[in-house]
Amino acid sequence: MSQRQITFEILRYDPETESEPRFQAYCVPCEEEWVVLDALNYIKDNLDGTLSYRWSCHMAVCGSCGMMINGEPMLSCKAFVRDFPNGGSIRVEPLTHFPIERDLVVVMDDFMDKLQAVKPYVIPKKKRTVEDGTYKQTPKQLHQYQQYSMCINCMLCYAACPQYALAPDFIGPAALALTHRYNLDSRDHGRPQRQEVVAAHEGVWECSFVGACSEVCPKDVDPAGAIQQMKIASTVDWYLEHLMPWRRK
Ligand code: SF4
Ligand code: FES
Repeated sequence: MSQRQITFEILRYDPETESEPRFQAYCVPCEEEWVVLDALNYIKDNLDGTLSYRWSCHMAVCGSCGMMINGEPMLSCKAFVRDFPNGGSIRVEPLTHFPIERDLVVVMDDFMDKLQAVKPYVIPKKKRTVEDGTYKQTPKQLHQYQQYSMCINCMLCYAACPQYALAPDFIGPAALALTHRYNLDSRDHGRPQRQEVVAAHEGVWECSFVGACSEVCPKDVDPAGAIQQMKIASTVDWYLEHLMPWRRK
């Protein structure tokens, strides 16, 4: 099996003891099939046990290993080292636009608060009991929201979003894509409850449609598309409300 010696320049920072972040270089003998996460695990196991980073599944499912790799937001378990230029080093930093907890670990509180604000769960019309049986959906009803349900909350879209950098109150791509996912679900009747957040200035209207969120999304969720569709739905709401109030449901 072929090996490549690759230098990883990794951002290190402990806000409790250090005044500012610094880069530390590690030379790692990488196997052909390794992803960046394998190299980090090698460093942690063999070179420096103090390095901190998040990961769990190693298969692009849990969403916890997002990092900036050579300046791009990526899942480190999906970033093959063989895809980076031969002979160059690989720079690894925590997801940008988020405060650093330690090394490559970021503080997720802002994202969690925004997720909570959009009520990302099915809100039924009336309370159901177990005796009512399972909800049933046709393949067409499932198809309506399925793409938006693939989100793994990895926050790469927030790191890619220039608007989130400028306006931290922006609810942001993933939370809005999940809002759209539940609004489109035939079992859900929670859209009016979510609309206050969606239609606020910090909601869909803060998005300037750069589209970087959809480009970096590892699950093809297309948050930018979801946001534009919600802009149209919110505009229709406004017209119904102000110009044709008799048509309001
Ligand atoms: S929309 Fe895509 S990039 Fe954003 S959190 Fe979900 S999976 Fe990650
Ligand atoms: S380790 Fe789970 S998504 Fe990368």
